Amino acid sequence: MEPEYYKGSDAAAYERVHGDIFNSIEQQRLRSMLLDAVKSVRTGAGRVKALDFGCGSGNLTRHLIELGAHTTSADLSDDFLKDIRRKFSASGLSETLKLNGRDLADVPDAQFDLAATYSVLHHVPDYLAIVRELCRVVKPGGVLYIDHEATETYYRRPAAYVEFLRKARPRVNWRRYLSLALDVRGYVHILRRLRNPRYKREGDIHVWPDDHIEWDKIEAILADEGFEILVRRDYLLYKAIYDLAVYHEYKDRCADERVLIARRRTA
Ligand SMILES: C[S@@+](CC[C@H](N)C(=O)[O-])C[C@H]1O[C@@H](n2cnc3c(N)ncnc32)[C@H](O)[C@@H]1O
Repeated sequence: MEPEYYKGSDAAAYERVHGDIFNSIEQQRLRSMLLDAVKSVRTGAGRVKALDFGCGSGNLTRHLIELGAHTTSADLSDDFLKDIRRKFSASGLSETLKLNGRDLADVPDAQFDLAATYSVLHHVPDYLAIVRELCRVVKPGGVLYIDHEATETYYRRPAAYVEFLRKARPRVNWRRYLSLALDVRGYVHILRRLRNPRYKREGDIHVWPDDHIEWDKIEAILADEGFEILVRRDYLLYKAIYDLAVYHEYKDRCADERVLIARRRTA
């Protein structure tokens, strides 16, 4: 059953509250990693056929289309899919796919040269089943791209990371407090959150508090499905609220997110 609050997904609001994604530093990192993923495809396809799993408002879709990939943007939310059609259908490289939240039942095996997902797995209770599904729909020589999922460091809070957060985040964020106080609709969300602690305003569920992504289990599935890991990179996510100088001081000393690029063996 689709959770009720996916129906209200609002792409503009989603992009507004996600300063952790829609900022130039994170966008540049993402673009360059996606370029690596596209270049790693060895299926022989003239034009890469890509899947953006859990596409939201089209964060990955935009880059994939700009990189020339024919992109299927897939999500649970009709509103997000409508937004994708509005923004990208003129490119001639875009199509949408409505998901059921559990699997890719309507997608035959080995359909895509590249399957990519960004900040989605921690929303999916049985995310390991989804990883298997993503493997299934990738062609031999095709690439699986998993990005923006927290590493254990994020949960364990080692000293350097705690120090980074203390220095990088504004001590008192008056702008945020003021905008929250004036946001009348926000009070409805607070009430919903009281009823359901897993409720998230932007229309997602986090599988909180157990939304740890078990990377070792993901890699075990990839090995089992015949994928080789090409890139495993931990990075410190830049959020728009961070002090930029502090971010640069710490970005090579600690990390809280991971990107993984793997390719399906051809034989
Ligand atoms: C944090 S958003 C990320 C959206 C987008 N990938 C981005 O980079 O901005 C999480 C997305 O996952 C979708 N989602 C949540 N649960 C899902 C599930 N079980 N199967 C597929 N998508 C899901 C949500 O509708 C939402 O679009």
